[in-house]
Amino acid sequence: MKIFSGWHRFIFGLLLLFILIHMYSVMDMYKNSKMEVPHKQLNKKLDHLILGPAAGKGLSNRLQCEGTKALNRTHASNSGLSLDESIAFVTVFTIYNSSLNNVNDKSSSTVVGNASYNKVDRSMAVLNAFINFIQVAMPQSKLFIVTDPVSDLSVHRNRVSLYPIDGEYSRDKLMLQRIRSYIIFLETKLQKLHQKPRNITHYIFTDSDIAVVDDLGHIFSDHPNFDLALTFRNNKAQPLNSGFIAVRGTPDSILRAKLFLQEVLKIYSSKYLKASRMLGDQLALAWVVKSKPHFDASRFAKPQAFSEDISGTSVLFLPCALYNWTPPEGAGQFHGMPLDVKVVHFKGSRKRLMLESWNFFSSSTDIEDMLCLILGSGRTKYDF
Ligand SMILES: *[C@@H]1O[C@H](CO)[C@@H](O)[C@H](O)[C@H]1NC(C)=O
Ligand SMILES: *[C@@H]1O[C@H](CO)[C@@H](O)[C@H](O)[C@H]1NC(C)=O
Ligand SMILES: *[C@@H]1O[C@H](CO)[C@@H](O)[C@H](O)[C@H]1NC(C)=O
Ligand SMILES: *[C@@H]1O[C@H](CO)[C@@H](O)[C@H](O)[C@H]1NC(C)=O
Repeated sequence: MKIFSGWHRFIFGLLLLFILIHMYSVMDMYKNSKMEVPHKQLNKKLDHLILGPAAGKGLSNRLQCEGTKALNRTHASNSGLSLDESIAFVTVFTIYNSSLNNVNDKSSSTVVGNASYNKVDRSMAVLNAFINFIQVAMPQSKLFIVTDPVSDLSVHRNRVSLYPIDGEYSRDKLMLQRIRSYIIFLETKLQKLHQKPRNITHYIFTDSDIAVVDDLGHIFSDHPNFDLALTFRNNKAQPLNSGFIAVRGTPDSILRAKLFLQEVLKIYSSKYLKASRMLGDQLALAWVVKSKPHFDASRFAKPQAFSEDISGTSVLFLPCALYNWTPPEGAGQFHGMPLDVKVVHFKGSRKRLMLESWNFFSSSTDIEDMLCLILGSGRTKYDF
């Protein structure tokens, strides 16, 4: 009897296990059929776009889409700048052909549209898309590409110039070097202004994996008193993103912005050198900002611009929701895309989407439809 009930238990257990496994896979199938982005694919990097639903459906201040057709028209901003003011973008970018041992290695090539890219081509394609977007949204602006003097970079585009600055641009030092290069860049511009006063050029320092989709001149005309602007989001540990920093082009503001960045560099070097190579500058930025006595960090919870004097530098805080919008990966809080978004950031593994977006825009020339493509496709990790 004892043996029998042991058997019974065993068979019963087996049956239960079988039922559970079956139930799980049915549930999984059900889940997958309901979700536009199947669970398994979230961790796999895809080599083609997945157009999912556009988040923010029914919210009156969010872009509404039907597939890649936008139901809302956004209005382009006026720059509001006077005739003697202009804007220059500044990005740090290096490329070393020696890092490419096997140019013809097909396994490392990636296809987007009808073009195929190796590792070096991929970086160059992102840089070119970055330039393209700027030249559409702000055709009057200039662009400086700050680069390692020994970099193999060559770019031949109108209004774009290389700006070599000595330094250590290896991958694990790049974020530290970037702040150093920004400081040197501002120092040089300041010296030139002192030698010979000229028309005002405001500077916007950005990552090169962003798409500027509207004129940004209004930042300087709507907020006439800031020296340096940063973008913030509602994230306790990392409220500030370093991928977008605007600096007013007057000698006083350039000087104060430089002093602020020098403080950030000091904190980065003394406190966060060991932080993951992508995070140190953002942690240092947040440390410097929060070191101001009585700084009210709860303002980061609301996507509304505000200013604050931080050790003598007037800092304007702009919401990432508009000036550094990133589609969140996977699940998570996501309320769609604000109608007046200005800058889209293709962080991490979204760079394929940046190129696909540019290709889409070149054939449709419709920014809003392109934003629908980005909104619907931005949750997936891509391979680029
Ligand atoms: C955006 O479009 C939707 C659908 O046409 C409409 O209901 C909504 O009011 C529009 N929002 C704005 C701010 O125009
Ligand atoms: C400087 O600004 C004036 C207008 O105030 C404009 O006529 C002139 O072309 C500008 N110079 C340069 C080099 O942009
Ligand atoms: C495909 O190639 C043709 C010819 O080279 C080019 O004109 C076209 O823009 C390309 N299409 C895409 C989507 O890249
Ligand atoms: C490095 O590669 C780029 C892009 O492929 C090319 O334009 C450049 O001429 C190359 N530079 C050298 C020094 O080979």
